[in-house]
Amino acid sequence: MSSKNINKIKKDLENVKNKINLLNHHYYVLDSPLVSDHEYDIEFQKLINLEESYPNLVSNDSPSQRIGGQPLSKFESVNHKEKMFSLNNVFEIKDLKLYMERLEKNLLISSRNIKFSAEPKLDGLAINLLYERGVLVLAATRGDGTTGENVTKNVKTIKSIPLKLMGNDFPNVLEIRGEIFMSKNGFDKINSSNSDKIFANARNAAAGSLRQLDPNIAASRPLDAFLYSIGYSSGNLNISSQSGSLLKLSKWGFKICELNKIVSGLGGCKEFYKKIYSMRDKIPYEIDGIVYKVDNLQHQKDLGFVSRAPRWAIAHKFPAEQKITTIDKVRFQVGRTGVVTPVASLKPVEVGGVIVSNATLHNMDEINKKDLHIGDTVTIRRAGDVIPEIVSIVNKGVGRKKIIMPKKCPECGSVIERVKDMAFSKCTGGLNCSAQKKAAIIHFVSKKAMDIQGIGEKLISRLVDEKIINNTSDLYKLNNKKLKNLTINTAVREDSGKEYDITLGDKSIKNILKSISGRMEIKLSNFIYSLGINEVGEVTARSLAKKYQSIEDLSKANYNDIIELRDIGPVAALNIYNYFHNKENLKNINNMLNSGLQLINNKKGEGNLFSNETYVITGKLNNMSRQNLEEHIIENGGNISNSVSKKTSALIVGLDPGSKLEKAKKLGVKIINDKDFYKILKI
Ligand code: IVH
Repeated sequence: MSSKNINKIKKDLENVKNKINLLNHHYYVLDSPLVSDHEYDIEFQKLINLEESYPNLVSNDSPSQRIGGQPLSKFESVNHKEKMFSLNNVFEIKDLKLYMERLEKNLLISSRNIKFSAEPKLDGLAINLLYERGVLVLAATRGDGTTGENVTKNVKTIKSIPLKLMGNDFPNVLEIRGEIFMSKNGFDKINSSNSDKIFANARNAAAGSLRQLDPNIAASRPLDAFLYSIGYSSGNLNISSQSGSLLKLSKWGFKICELNKIVSGLGGCKEFYKKIYSMRDKIPYEIDGIVYKVDNLQHQKDLGFVSRAPRWAIAHKFPAEQKITTIDKVRFQVGRTGVVTPVASLKPVEVGGVIVSNATLHNMDEINKKDLHIGDTVTIRRAGDVIPEIVSIVNKGVGRKKIIMPKKCPECGSVIERVKDMAFSKCTGGLNCSAQKKAAIIHFVSKKAMDIQGIGEKLISRLVDEKIINNTSDLYKLNNKKLKNLTINTAVREDSGKEYDITLGDKSIKNILKSISGRMEIKLSNFIYSLGINEVGEVTARSLAKKYQSIEDLSKANYNDIIELRDIGPVAALNIYNYFHNKENLKNINNMLNSGLQLINNKKGEGNLFSNETYVITGKLNNMSRQNLEEHIIENGGNISNSVSKKTSALIVGLDPGSKLEKAKKLGVKIINDKDFYKILKI
């Protein structure tokens, strides 16, 4: 074919694609169709005909690529270019007030003058879309905030998400964040038509649909998306506010929640909340609160982030749904650290789309304070993914029975002791208690720890009961022989009424072994967290990994060295020290390493601007809060210390420095002024 002809075909194809994109935008995003369905179908057929005749001209951003395709065997993990944060919550006005006061203090502005982008908190799941030169190339779930799952094929089936951005003012590489959800209508439809799969609520339905390996199934589900923020951008966007970002997003063709509004101060936030809460039932999609975001992006930058959430935004959640039911029984559950928690078995009741039959009673003080007894009628509350809890008694049951903490552990028979000055009691059995053993192994395989999928609580419980495993290192010794014939459950035959055992099938065994062998390379920080040392959460585990760089060095650390780490208190430090001075624990770790488990850690200096350097800050910083600068340093691999020593890499000096400056001069420690330091950080 002559080049003139092929150019003409390319042009025709481009025109028809652009036209369909425009029609899609009007139909799915703006909710105002330009043409009839019939006319749309004719355009679409034109596209299909052209692409069938010239298959090598089918591009990634063609509207024809929205349709399903081959099922995947699994979702790949992908890193976000910029971290995806979570939000802190408040439930009550008094806490919202406190939040506003903190903002005032940090920004030195009266909160009345702070503008917020008030946005409904959509009850779906977060998504990160990556556009390169305006074309959607990747869509990933939030995952742990750093790494998510590649769900591009499924996301491409969502018609309100543009495959190609509109306009031409976008940078080459751009991340767009938002929420995927299913409308209330869409949810009702699939729940009534889909007989084999009933979802508890629209959020679960959206999540279940997005995580389908077969994109044709995702395509058949009524998914939708609102976008609300920009993540990484390779170029300067010239945007100075959150509301400006929203406007830009809509110009690029994204669907923005139509209820978002700019409000001022606490009063404005409260008013918006009240209005949206009162119309919640009429909103066609599920929301579970309001997010207030400081509108000014410079202010957002000044406020920065703390741990998992920004200081510049807060989610004001709607009150949890409450229902009435009765306490049938109370059992005592023994956790990983031996804490014995009373749990109420309730008459099953539906709360917020989920059937609830258990509620935590927290501890004996809580039970006594509320005067709870077995047989009482109570109100229960459930908010989001939070464990349901009992609010108060509605009716005292006739012949109600007192709830008593047992003297001996229901699992291992060891003595239960009340912990001094604390509200809780503990089983003294330690790892000899099968409940603690099980809980430790369950924690070990959990998502934020080793993330060994396919090994659930039930299986672990059975493996421990049958003495096939006794600790986490035994997981690595599992094989076909050990798993074969393991009874997981019993069932009753319908015809004969006889009980029979359910054992693991060959395929399940293969999957279990595969998921263990698939997680033989693990980040040091995840491994430290997975050990389940009391008071060592993810953040502490990360600091320990960063400081010690290897499990050997951590296990040799002395108490004084550990406690020097910021955010590690005396109790946590002692727990860490004791953990690594326990022979059983060391043996267990060694066995895991000998089974081939490899711990990986960021090599010193690799990709980390300040790796292994320690900074001290003094004086009032120009244009930035101290906390914010500290977080920048930590994010870039550095450490913060409160006092200058020979080990200090540099002292960062703001206005009116304190005595630290003299000390740094005396010790010959490098001194750098804050503004020069910002330049190194490129902030
Ligand atoms: S902003 C750093 N805006 O809430 C700010 N999140 O609890 C991150 N969500 O993971 C999020 N509606 O999935 C933001 N208008 C909204 C939202 C929203 C729902 C979800 C989102 C996020 C979660 C955090």
